[in-house]
Amino acid sequence: MKPDNLEDVIGSDKSHLWHHLTQHKPWQGEADPMVIVEGKGLRVKDIHGREYLDAVSGGVWTVNVGYGRESIADAVRDQIAKMCYFANSAGSIPGARFAEKLIEKMPGLNRVYYSNSGSEANEKGFKFVRQLAAMKNDGKKHKIIYRDRDYHGTTITTLSAGGQAQRKDQYGPFTPGFVEIPHCLAYRSPNGDDPDFGVKVARELERVILEEDPDTVGSVCLEPITAGGGVIVPPEGYWETIQEICSKYGVLIHIDEVVCGMGRTGKWFGYQHYGVKPDIVTMAKGVASGYAAISVTATTEELFSEFLAEPAEHMHYFRDISTFGGCAGGPAAALENMRIIEEENLLDNVNKMGDYLMDKLHELKDKYPMVGDVRGKGLFCGAELVKDRDTREPIEESVGAAIVSDCLQQGVMIGRTNRSLPGLNNTLCLSPALVCTKGDIDEIVTAMDNALAKHQ
Ligand SMILES: Cc1ncc(COP(=O)(O)O)c(C=O)c1O
Repeated sequence: MKPDNLEDVIGSDKSHLWHHLTQHKPWQGEADPMVIVEGKGLRVKDIHGREYLDAVSGGVWTVNVGYGRESIADAVRDQIAKMCYFANSAGSIPGARFAEKLIEKMPGLNRVYYSNSGSEANEKGFKFVRQLAAMKNDGKKHKIIYRDRDYHGTTITTLSAGGQAQRKDQYGPFTPGFVEIPHCLAYRSPNGDDPDFGVKVARELERVILEEDPDTVGSVCLEPITAGGGVIVPPEGYWETIQEICSKYGVLIHIDEVVCGMGRTGKWFGYQHYGVKPDIVTMAKGVASGYAAISVTATTEELFSEFLAEPAEHMHYFRDISTFGGCAGGPAAALENMRIIEEENLLDNVNKMGDYLMDKLHELKDKYPMVGDVRGKGLFCGAELVKDRDTREPIEESVGAAIVSDCLQQGVMIGRTNRSLPGLNNTLCLSPALVCTKGDIDEIVTAMDNALAKHQ
């Protein structure tokens, strides 16, 4: 096959590739999958040379520093030419350096465990809890609490901790020991508008801990701001109450920063907006902006010390490995990614451009009754669409799909909640790269404006 022969590439794709999250039947006919071949900044080009403005950072809020960063490519190239891989039971130069740089951004945490996907990073967090329970109290404090509408990954166990019914459907039975608490989306509060909703709904955690027996609950795993479940910014008082309850019952706080981490919300980590003191923090997507596969499970020295013992106690250490957690290209990319965020002052840009984007979304809300709620933090925003402002009845998923497709036809890629929450896949999602400009945002919002006008 000649590499530049389009027909060949698309033919190979249609014959042999199994794409993620996709029904392939239409591609057995005339329709072709999109094939992306290059990118620069926020722009990507498909195999036919058509350019798009990517307002979702690689589809799934990942390419935080934008496409075409030669310095990251160089850092990875230089590292892997010299030393590509050794199992992470040994160390690597970029592994140690990135761990130190990362920990500087996370006061209170001190240890970094590498693996290669968000799901895997979360699994490590769950394994910490299970092993701690086994080592300290005969496995009793083993339960893990998760929240409705949150997502923590695609493996059977991370799905067991997932609050998105459609993602889980048909993949059970699930891992035991996971218990759900309600979501914290004020717009969908069961009691209507309630200024105390944040505190009240956080108190549900206490109710569940008591119901389960506090001696059996090891941790609570939460997204700081829910991403794929509809961009849910926790209401006032929420996190403070969660923190208070966890301290009271000795429950570890595991925060899933797979989406929010690395500047997406205007601070290094989403939890840093709320003064929470996590015990475990997981991150993946933006850690190297997709230039290499790397994920991290960070934790406190206190938790880490629980695993220290004399070598003769041969089961008393974290008996876990992730083969590709030893790829040295991952931390090499992550170091350069972090340097870019710092040197280009991207957190500042996220805050400024995030405010601008939110103002523009409010203008859309004022213009279209269909836009029921807009929410977000930094360059991480959502617009929830409804049939009726008063009843808040959600639009059908197909309407959101049509709006996204209409934007795509205008050359702008936006995202939406999809096949996750029965009857509530009605939120448009935006997460442009942290380098985006006012001009980029105007282009994104104009495409949305045109699409909403057509589908209202
Ligand atoms: C909040 C959150 N956690 C975990 C994951 C899983 O990450 P991965 O797909 O890298 O396994 C995702 C993926 O979208 C996510 O959004």
